Amino acid sequence: MKLLVVGGGGREHTIIKKLKENPNVEEIFACPGNGGMAEDATLVPIGAKEIEKIVAFAKENAIDYAVVAPDDPLVLGCVDALNEIGIPCFGPKANAAIIEGSKVFSKDLMKKYQIPTAEYAVFEDCAKALEYLETAPIPTVIKADGLALGKGVIIAETREDAKAAVRSMMEDQIFGASGSRVVIEEFLTGPEVSVLSFTDGETVIPMISSMDHKRALDNDQGLNTGGMGTVAPNPYYTEAIAAECMERIFLPTIRAMKAEGRTFKGCLYFGLMLTPNGPKVIEYNCRFGDPETQVVLPLLESDLLTIMMATTNGTLAETEVKFADRHACCVVMASEGYPGKYTTGHKMTIPAEIKNDVFVAGAKLDGEDLLTAGGRVLGVTATADSLEEAIAASYKKVETIHFENAFYRHDIGQKALKAGKEN
Ligand code: AMP
Ligand code: GLY
Repeated sequence: MKLLVVGGGGREHTIIKKLKENPNVEEIFACPGNGGMAEDATLVPIGAKEIEKIVAFAKENAIDYAVVAPDDPLVLGCVDALNEIGIPCFGPKANAAIIEGSKVFSKDLMKKYQIPTAEYAVFEDCAKALEYLETAPIPTVIKADGLALGKGVIIAETREDAKAAVRSMMEDQIFGASGSRVVIEEFLTGPEVSVLSFTDGETVIPMISSMDHKRALDNDQGLNTGGMGTVAPNPYYTEAIAAECMERIFLPTIRAMKAEGRTFKGCLYFGLMLTPNGPKVIEYNCRFGDPETQVVLPLLESDLLTIMMATTNGTLAETEVKFADRHACCVVMASEGYPGKYTTGHKMTIPAEIKNDVFVAGAKLDGEDLLTAGGRVLGVTATADSLEEAIAASYKKVETIHFENAFYRHDIGQKALKAGKEN
């Protein structure tokens, strides 16, 4: 089979490595991929949002199955466009990807179907939003309606900060048109858990749970990033909580999307907060998380391509989805300065014996050399029988990778380790 993976980060590299385990896979093309995955996929210089070009390429190269991984092309209808020319895909159509593409849509869906989430109000008029903030409980959370590269959420500790956030989104449009509508929501507290799931629109099978580390610096200091590391499973996510989430969140969401005529197929990501009043949805993503994928897929024992095709064909209920009873840790190595300004173009050295456990996010080839080309450069994963061993093994590998300006957190997994010992 010839496969096409749309996207170019560490998540896509992880998916590609896993897909390659299936003996029927002859070739994998990546649009656009990155230089760090050139040994695993054929790189195609077409951007993930260039839908027409992707479709033309897929047709010319007789692609058998496509995996659309990032949010933008999903929301823009990449799956719909490929389906139109008869190419089956992993991922939701645009009318279902809206569950991530519009925060207003997802909040209204949860309200209508009584899925637990933070209380909220929606505003299209800046003056009305500012008036509401005069009496709203503080801290409060301000979210731009549309996609904003994961930056569209501001947690305001004071009334003045909240108003400034609303003005920056609605008047100054710092997130562009994404901020023309805002959601103002209740500030929730509790441990956060990421649960990715496979679904064919009827059956939903949660993957092993995970914990992201979003802040740039140790001890959750510094700016929010795309994610500096992950561990799986998440020790806060007990079997009892998992059962509650299935009954009150996962199944109701899948049924709600179907009832709305927006059947969701692919990976639905539940960003949960375990509040004192039970688990609540913080956000939905219409795709695999990054860098959650880098710990979840290495623990998957079943064949990824078979599962993906079952979500497309509606046969997930009969398909085996098995995870190892082990632990994984992924440490992200970034360019010093990320998520602010940083320099790139530095030569990287990755020892051959750990290449299988390195998922490259931002790199380009320069002849034989691999050069850094992004803020998040790569993720290094280790799996082990205990979390402690997985953490130690991933940091040991990190120490063998070199590039100028390399920077990473030293405490990935420590919070989970502590929580695991308390539970
Ligand atoms: P997002 O970009 O939607 O992933 O949100 C970024 C982060 O903001 C989340 O991971 C949470 O830590 C935090 N957050 C979002 N919504 C809330 C909320 N209602 N209460 C508390 N924290 C929140
Ligand atoms: N790691 C969070 C996300 O993929 O949105």
